[in-house]
Amino acid sequence: MDLFEYQARDLFAKHGVPVLAGEVIDTPEAARQVTAELGGRAVVKAQVKTGGRGKAGGVKLAADPDDAVEKAGQILGMDIKGHTVHKVMLAQTADIADEYYVSYLLDRANRTFLAMASVEGGMDIEEVAATKPEALARIPVDANEGVTEAKAREIVEAARFPAEITDQVVDVLQSLWTVFVKEDALLVEVNPLVKTAEGKVLALDGKVSLDANAEFRQPDHVAFEDKAAANPLEAAAKAKGLNYVKLDGQVGIIGNGAGLVMSTLDVVAYAGEKHSAVKPANFLDIGGGASADVMANGLEIILGDPDVRSVFVNVFGGITACDAVANGIVQALELLKSKGEDVTKPLVVRLDGNNAELGRKILSDANHPLVEQVDTMDGAADRAAELAAK
Ligand SMILES: Nc1ncnc2c1ncn2[C@@H]1O[C@H](COP(=O)(O)OP(=O)(O)OP(=O)(O)O)[C@@H](O)[C@H]1O
Ligand SMILES: [Mg+2]
Repeated sequence: MDLFEYQARDLFAKHGVPVLAGEVIDTPEAARQVTAELGGRAVVKAQVKTGGRGKAGGVKLAADPDDAVEKAGQILGMDIKGHTVHKVMLAQTADIADEYYVSYLLDRANRTFLAMASVEGGMDIEEVAATKPEALARIPVDANEGVTEAKAREIVEAARFPAEITDQVVDVLQSLWTVFVKEDALLVEVNPLVKTAEGKVLALDGKVSLDANAEFRQPDHVAFEDKAAANPLEAAAKAKGLNYVKLDGQVGIIGNGAGLVMSTLDVVAYAGEKHSAVKPANFLDIGGGASADVMANGLEIILGDPDVRSVFVNVFGGITACDAVANGIVQALELLKSKGEDVTKPLVVRLDGNNAELGRKILSDANHPLVEQVDTMDGAADRAAELAAK
């Protein structure tokens, strides 16, 4: 989960990374009071989960409270790379003497963590990284050792930070590592880290991406979820504990096992090319031991998607055999009917693997008017696409 800058700033402050005071608002008028409280001047910053805000005109200096209202009015509602600005952060202004870059991230290719740092930070860091890679120090960080003082000094030296701020940057690097570890982050980035005219080191912008797999031990992170931006079907699926991702096609997909579902998306997209270019409407993996309840929950989400015109249930029986899945489908259809959500869209079911024949017989005997069986995955994908195109 990517955080907004103001949320990253809160985590920085919590773990001792030096930041400036700031407040988030969502109406221009609110900028007046906040700017006055911040000392009469403020930087108005668009809160969107994408980079390059400054270059897009989403970061503006306001000289006084009236000016802040005007700048906030310009930035709120702005579109930055497809992200609409709903909130701005007003931050205290810093008198910047120099801008640097520091980050920690998971380096999957090298199976380690990586610290990156440069004294050529600021809005052009992407260009520095591309054209002057030697200006961006890359230091591996051992997961068990972490960023000790010695490691922090190694990073500072490699990036050639000026001598007079060495100790401050060493502190920032260690606090930032605490953020990375304690918050289960996959990325923390400060750009710019600045030296002010008075020689103080401050983090003026932050990017943090949290590891969703660590949610179970990070109860506080729920508060970071951007409810307004969440897709309502995805939110409903999440509440039911389903592994669901909304896509933009018309064929609803249910399968067991992430690999099978991924390849189902491929065959449906391929089959769809012959049928008015219909595409998969979602990813939904109901997992190995799918009960009737899970099947009913999955069908409920998919049938509740107004874009869906047909559903492809693709199951390869394993530990949970096809007869159990077939019973699950039959019971799910009854369950939905009893809830007044009778199925009105055609279902194409392909069962294969453990006890496939018994499973197919159970579905044939149930004889539901909208359920069709096709024995092969390609054939079923083609039929589901054909039905969606009708
Ligand atoms: N509080 C502040 N006081 C003074 N100048 C600031 C302040 N915050 C940001 N700036 C200036 O604005 C520039 C852009 O700000 P910031 O880094 O937050 O946005 P950005 O880099 O454009 O966004 P992103 O990092 O998402 O690409 C900074 O490099 C810095 O020069
Ligand atoms: Mg930045």
